[in-house]
Amino acid sequence: MKAVSWTLNTIMEPIEQLNLATVIEVSQAVLGENVLEKLLDTIVRIAIVQAGAQRALLIIARGDKYRIEAEATTSSESVNVDLRHANVTSAEVPESVFHYVLRTKESLRLDDASSERPFFDDQYIKRHSTRSILCLPLLKQTRLIGVLYFENNLSCRVFTSARMAILKLLALEAACSIENTLLYGELREREARVRRLVDSNIIGIFIGRSGCITEANDAFLQIVGYSRDDLLSGRMRWPDMTPPEWRKEQAEAVAELRATGTVKPFENAFLRKDGSRVPVLIGGAMFDECQGQGVAFVLDLTERKQAEDDLRRSERRYHEAELELAHANRVATLGQLSTSLAHEVKQPIAAAINNASAALHWIDRESPDLEKIRQSLGRIVGNGHRANDVISRIRSLLKKAPLQKERLEINDAIREVLALSRGEITKNAISVRTQLAAGLLPIEGDRVQLQQVILNLVVNAVEAMSSVPVGARELTISTVKGRAESVHVAIRDSGPGIAQVALDRAFDAFYTTKPGGLGMGLSISRSIIEAHGGRLWATVNAPQGASFEFTLPAAPDVEQRD
Ligand SMILES: Nc1ncnc2c1ncn2[C@@H]1O[C@H](COP(=O)(O)OP(=O)(O)O)[C@@H](O)[C@H]1O
Ligand SMILES: [Mg+2]
Repeated sequence: MKAVSWTLNTIMEPIEQLNLATVIEVSQAVLGENVLEKLLDTIVRIAIVQAGAQRALLIIARGDKYRIEAEATTSSESVNVDLRHANVTSAEVPESVFHYVLRTKESLRLDDASSERPFFDDQYIKRHSTRSILCLPLLKQTRLIGVLYFENNLSCRVFTSARMAILKLLALEAACSIENTLLYGELREREARVRRLVDSNIIGIFIGRSGCITEANDAFLQIVGYSRDDLLSGRMRWPDMTPPEWRKEQAEAVAELRATGTVKPFENAFLRKDGSRVPVLIGGAMFDECQGQGVAFVLDLTERKQAEDDLRRSERRYHEAELELAHANRVATLGQLSTSLAHEVKQPIAAAINNASAALHWIDRESPDLEKIRQSLGRIVGNGHRANDVISRIRSLLKKAPLQKERLEINDAIREVLALSRGEITKNAISVRTQLAAGLLPIEGDRVQLQQVILNLVVNAVEAMSSVPVGARELTISTVKGRAESVHVAIRDSGPGIAQVALDRAFDAFYTTKPGGLGMGLSISRSIIEAHGGRLWATVNAPQGASFEFTLPAAPDVEQRD
């Protein structure tokens, strides 16, 4: 493209052509306005008059788009201004002209657009038979703030050099004013947003300098129980308001603030004016690191802490209730066994009496048989131990002790339970088979609770088999190595079994099919096994009966056994 007469940047305006009064008037009008709408109105109004145009557009860059923000038109000596927000389209401006100015950031004057190459076949120019066109970039240094567009369809060469001079000055001042006003507006908006946050009093906010709190909103004053007068007196100092036990956190926060300019929200506490403590979440940022001034956001955590405490308390209560219930279940189960248990205790005592009588008998002989006496006494000792064992097992099950985890062999636990229930098993004419695998991994758990599970399952089996004929009552207890470092225990009976649908319901609390049943045994047993990281379930036993099985994970850090 040839540089021809329509480029304006080559035409330097002699300064004398500027009318001083007009210059001052334009400057005052444009530079004195800082409300955007008014500013745009003023610019486009002065521009159209100074240019002698029929139509003028003020186009402004918004982000990476250009928008028509104001349009002025003249009609019979009056100027109409329309503050519109429209896209720049070929219906509004000759796009070839507009894009030329965007690309070159130079002004463009067409004295007779309809005949000037390459613009004469621009759609807009053709449609409107536009004659004089002037398009000026609004530049702030090299940045394009917007564009002023003028047209006149009546005459050619409307935009004379004299007019150009004042319009260029106007463009310069307009660019400056528009940018300032936009920035000022943004700043005001941002400030208003911060103000809204501060005034909304949703969270406490304070501004401080070197430990002294200089400004604060009502929410903050309320959290710490100080008045606005206290604040104004300058007595409120953040370090003094921090309880001694929270000073470490505070020091770390100050260090972080110094190092990075911000501090991520952390838990802390304030001493209220009345000396009480308030738990808070606090975060902040420095305004200006040199001056040591910063803003902090404070959230009252009292309610949340309270809720956490309540939750902890109710969890503890739930736990206590669970232990209480498990204990009640043990006592009830042992109660069911009381006759057999009494027998278990009485039996070794009776045996001891018998052995003592025998010993007396051997002593009373003319030549006492010391060997026989020794044997009897030995048996008495054994009888005593047996009675003692039974009593201590019963006592441990009756005791209401807190959970105690220990490493134990599941087979030992089973044997002890069987020893306790032997009387009941004999009384009910049940034959017992045990298949306890050797070399099982030890497990970790509460012995009393695990024995309670086994006892519940054994007693259920015994009760279930009361309905089948004597001679067909079989109880099998087996242990095997389970998958993935665990032990697997199965307690099978030859009772009536459980209907498929009831297999899971049987574990529901209070589910019972027995007239005097409580329905808590299986539910408690399941929660005990699950608390030990295992699983308890029921299956139908073939050819008849029920089978209750559970797994327990091996104790941590045990060596794999073969
Ligand atoms: N070995 C079993 N054979 C058949 N049914 C059983 C067996 N064990 C438990 N059940 C069924 O599960 C129910 C719940 O058992 P449990 O929770 O121990 O409560 P309870 O023994 O007080 O009824 C029993 O009432 C019974 O219907
Ligand atoms: Mg039961």
